[in-house]
Amino acid sequence: MMVETLPARWYVDQGIFERERRAIFARSWMLLGPEHEVAEPGSWRAQRLNGWPIVVVRDEGGRLRAFHNVCRHRGAELVEADGAGKCRLLVCPYHAWSYDLDGRLVRTPNFGEEEAFDKSQHGLLPARVEAWAGLIFVCLDMAAPDLTTWLGSIPELLKPFPLAPDMEYHSSFSLDGACNWKAYCDNTVEGYHLPTVHKRLTAAVDRDNTSIKSFDGGRLVVFDVTYQSTGSDLRGAKGIWFYRFPGFQGVAGDRSFKADRIEPVGAGGMRYTNWSWFRDLSEPERLDSMEWSRQIAAEDIGICETVQRNMVAGVYLTGVLSPTQEGHIARLQQLVREAVDG
Ligand code: FES
Ligand SMILES: [Fe+2]
Repeated sequence: MMVETLPARWYVDQGIFERERRAIFARSWMLLGPEHEVAEPGSWRAQRLNGWPIVVVRDEGGRLRAFHNVCRHRGAELVEADGAGKCRLLVCPYHAWSYDLDGRLVRTPNFGEEEAFDKSQHGLLPARVEAWAGLIFVCLDMAAPDLTTWLGSIPELLKPFPLAPDMEYHSSFSLDGACNWKAYCDNTVEGYHLPTVHKRLTAAVDRDNTSIKSFDGGRLVVFDVTYQSTGSDLRGAKGIWFYRFPGFQGVAGDRSFKADRIEPVGAGGMRYTNWSWFRDLSEPERLDSMEWSRQIAAEDIGICETVQRNMVAGVYLTGVLSPTQEGHIARLQQLVREAVDG
């Protein structure tokens, strides 16, 4: 029996997207960014994660804290949604309500306080935050397993490789795609498209010594990659590429570590963000590696946008998955179904 793909409407339906956002993304740990951005007490970094504006701060005691970036008065964003800074109080730009770094409401200028108004009931709404390997992760679900549990086999699989704290941070970039997040992730867990979509990558990879495996009930898909010993500036280097459902992926090698976030932006959009660290490489080599990451992501987004246009057009309703090449897609789509249909 052939395995069928998720029906096309799962890629275009706004109602399904909203259910995925709550049942999948709100319950997962999401990569917010590098920990070095909030190294000092009082430093903060804000990001919009899957549509939820979040701010992470380092409090006076050195502990990381995460809050929804929403003022409890009338709902303004407290800090710039994609900003960073340093402060002692988080002061709302609308009417200057101020919160300390623990999220407590401490000032409400000219509000005309009644005795009944209890500031302690109007603190910032918290989210969970934990760091691993120099990366900050946030989770909105107070009852979800902790980050270490969620990461599963990743720390063990990455043990042979240097991670962010052992390297120099280089830079970050984002690409927006006009496709459903699942179109991008389906593509991410199969190697079937490599020779046709990624010519440079295919030329560099030793395909006979590259394997794809899954761990943790199919939530983690790993490509064990060996690069060609000739014809590539990577010269026989080994590395692993991993994808953790639903939106965390990365590439680890001897001289680079890359962490990526894949997030939905409505039913018909997604955003890819990459952060990269290097060691023992010249600046031109680092820039070339960044350019290569950008090219691979752009090639994937380009082909997925054509898929998305046809999901919208309404002729293609469902397809079939290769039993040898696309088993990880079948599992990924099953995870989505289980989460959304409960
Ligand atoms: S909305 Fe923040 S102070 Fe009014
Ligand atoms: Fe790809």
